[in-house]
Order: sequence, then structure tokens, then C-alpha cells
Amino acid sequence: MSQATAAPAAAKGDAATKNTLTVTDNRTGKTFEIPIENGTFKALDFRQMKVSADDFGLMSYDPAFMNTASCKSTITFIDGDKGILRYRGYPIEQIAEKSNYLETAYLILNGELPKKAQYDEWVDNITHHTFLHENIKDLMTGFRYDAHPMGMLVSMMGALSTFYPEAKHIHDPLVRQKQIYRLIAKIPTLAAFAYRHSKGLPYVYPDNDLSYSGNFLQMMFKIGGRYEVHPVLERALDVLFILHADHEQNCSTSAMRNVGSSYVDPYSATAAAVGALYGPLHGGANEQVLRMLDVIGTKENVPAFVKDVKTSGGEVKLMGFGHRVYKNYDPRAKIIKLMADQVFEVVGRNPKLEIAIELEKIALSDEYFLKRKLYPNVDFYSGLIYQAMSFPVDMFPVLFAIGRMSGWLAQWQEMVTDKEQKIARPRQVFLGSDERNFVPMGKR
Ligand code: ACO
Repeated sequence: MSQATAAPAAAKGDAATKNTLTVTDNRTGKTFEIPIENGTFKALDFRQMKVSADDFGLMSYDPAFMNTASCKSTITFIDGDKGILRYRGYPIEQIAEKSNYLETAYLILNGELPKKAQYDEWVDNITHHTFLHENIKDLMTGFRYDAHPMGMLVSMMGALSTFYPEAKHIHDPLVRQKQIYRLIAKIPTLAAFAYRHSKGLPYVYPDNDLSYSGNFLQMMFKIGGRYEVHPVLERALDVLFILHADHEQNCSTSAMRNVGSSYVDPYSATAAAVGALYGPLHGGANEQVLRMLDVIGTKENVPAFVKDVKTSGGEVKLMGFGHRVYKNYDPRAKIIKLMADQVFEVVGRNPKLEIAIELEKIALSDEYFLKRKLYPNVDFYSGLIYQAMSFPVDMFPVLFAIGRMSGWLAQWQEMVTDKEQKIARPRQVFLGSDERNFVPMGKR
């Protein structure tokens, strides 16, 4: 606990210059001075505010963590009002233009851009951990032909922990590093195998001569030994992985940190993160955008759909719009929109683009969306690109998971090495029954 004291409140003039908060508990009349650090106070400092000696003390109530920081982090900075996103201080626009996914992953994990030798070693290590144990293939065959690849990914991630039992030594930096290589290297292979399973196609093994994204594309789409990686599509996919690499304390990252805080191995924690990402309000949203565009069908139906959204009382949502943090245009959506043109030049225009553009146009001029600060998020256009690149809709969240792997691991490692962290364990406000005696079945 920080040095909160029950000292009398400072005089008005001083208070303006002090980095503290003066709180009067009107139940007792006592006044407390609470330190403010980095624009936050410690919720635990409020515990000293009690109405009686046996009172537990005041707690903060914050469902969905709307205004609670659960960690200190140096990885990703977001200013949602200004539409700013930076990894380790570098603006996302510069990284997307000048970097590649593996270099970005190194930056996110290590805090600095790699020098040439560091980069070469990093890429070499990732490239040489791409293969899966052959028994993983046997596990895959147990799934139904129509199993959702995210469900398969959750299971396979958990299963990997049994192949690398040493991974539970999470306090050993070398062991951690090895799992980081493995997880970043193997997630594209798992993802591609899940897809091939759903198609009944033979698995394609990693090709270590190709780039991270190029290799993934060939594992997905090679048939009869043939697949030419198109450089524009390879780069587009790489940029999409960069844009998804980290996004500070989002739902799946919080799941990774929360589950990881029990000191479980990183494969099990990643399984939880993938599960969180699967949800339609998070990584499943890009899949839902495409399904929504299918339902709308034509550009002419857009106004009627927007009307449905506005009158549904929150039931019908404009998928790919809105964000917990961004109350301005998502900077990632801007980059994706520009990239869509390059991809469509190679593979032809996705007919749904017209509907999406019309939807965006109407939504951005409509009072309902303006008032609620609802702008396109990263998922609004990414699905259109993925589809144009021949990825089936249910693979979209899987692609998100591949990119986010580096962010999950960086955040997990930051949590594991943070001396202020403990096992995550929120409190509750109990509003249930008071103590009562058990009633036998015949007397109920
Ligand atoms: N369409 C229509 N209305 C919306 C939408 C939307 N997409 N999003 C929010 N609203 C409305 C809410 O109904 C609410 O209206 P009200 O004030 O009249 O009740 C208001 O805007 C505020 O929305 P909240 O739900 O409080 O915002 P919250 O921060 O909790 O939710 C979220 C953010 C989950 C992303 C939400 O905007 C949403 O469901 N969007 C669609 C799903 C989506 O695209 N998710 C991807 C997010 S990006 C990512 O995870 C990578």
C-alpha cells in the first residue's frame, strides 16, 4: 500500500500544487490524502476508509475495467481520442511502411529495433522452430471436418504445453525465450493445418526459405506442390500481422496476463488468449463484418440496415465499428483501407467493398454514430482483404491470432517479470442471500 495517511486535507492553495487526492468519507467525516502517481491512485489506498474496525474497507467497483489500470507497461501506447497507436514509441504508420512482421515482433518483445546481427539471429531462430511434432497431426484428425479453426487453435495451443513440459519454468529467461521462438514460429503452421483439415487437404510443411508470411501462404494454399507467393499479397499479409501485433490491455491480452499470472506455462495462457479473441466483440468481429455485408447484400439495402442498427436498442450492431479505446478513426483501419487498393489490383475488387464504403459513408455522417463516436475499427476492412486473398471467413480471427502472438508474449513476459504483479484475483460486490439454513428436499 502506498503512504496514504489519515492526515487532515491540505489547504486549498497547496492542494493545487500537490500530486495527491484529498478524500472525505462522509460516513465518518474522516479525510484522507491519497497519493497520485502517473495519473492514477492505488485502489488499495481506499481500503483504509472504514466505518468500523471490522469493516473490510472501501473497494472500487469497475465492471469491464472501464477506468482501471491493471498494470504498468512500456510496450504499446494508444491515445484513443487522437487516433494514435505506437509500439515502443514508434508510430504504427512508420512501422507499417518501413518494417516487417518479424522485426516488429522483435521490437515489441525486446523494446528496441534489432541491429542487423540481432535481427538475423531472431529470424533464424523463428524460422527453425516452425515445424510441429508429428503427433499434432493425429490430434487434428480428431476434429470434425467442419470444426471452426479458432476452436482447433484453442485446443492445439493447450496441447502444445504437453509437448514442451519444460515451458512451465517461466522464471528462467532462457526457457521463456525458447517458448517465444516456438509460439511465434508454430502458430502459422497450426493455423494452416487447421485450414487444410477443414478442406480435407494434405498438410503442407513449412518452407524455411520463405519469409514468415510467404511461408504461411504456401502452407495454406499450395496444391500439388505448386504455389507462387505473390509479393504484393505477401507484403499485405505481413502488414496486417504488424497492425494486429499488439494493442495494450485488450480482452485477449488481459486473458493472457490473467491466466499467466497463475504461473501456468505460456501455451496454456495462449490457449486462453485465443479463446478470448474468438468472441464476436473482439477478434471474431472481422468474421462478423463479412457475414453482415452478406446479409446486407447490396448497396441499396445499406440505409435500411443502418436504420435497423439505430432502432434496435443495441441489439443489432454495425460490426467493425466502435472501439472501447478509439473514439476517433482507428489508425490501423486507415492503413488497411489504403492497402486494400493494392491487393484488389492484384486479385480483383471484392464486390462487398462497395457495400462497405457506402456503409462507412452513411455511418460517418449519421448523428447516431457521430454522437457515440463510432468509427471503423481494424476489423472493418481487414476481412475484405482476407477474403480477396482467398482466406475463408472462419480463418479471419485465426489470422488476427497469428499477428497478436508477439503482443501476447511481450505482455506475458512483462507481467511475469513485474515485481508489482501477483496472481490476478478481482474482488466482488456480494449481493446474494445472507446466511440461511439448508432445507431438505421434501420441505422445499
Ligand atoms: N454499432 C452500433 N452501435 C454501437 C456499436 C456498433 N458497432 N458499438 C457501440 N454502439 C453503441 C452502443 O449500443 C452504445 O449505445 P447507447 O449509448 O445508446 O447505449 C454506445 O454505442 C456505446 O457503446 P458501448 O457498448 O458502451 O461501447 P464499448 O466500449 O463497451 O464497446 C465494442 C466497444 C465492443 C468494440 C463495441 O463498439 C462493439 O460491439 N463493436 C462491434 C464489434 C466490433 O467491431 N468489435 C471489434 C473491436 S476491435 C477489436 O477487438 C480488434
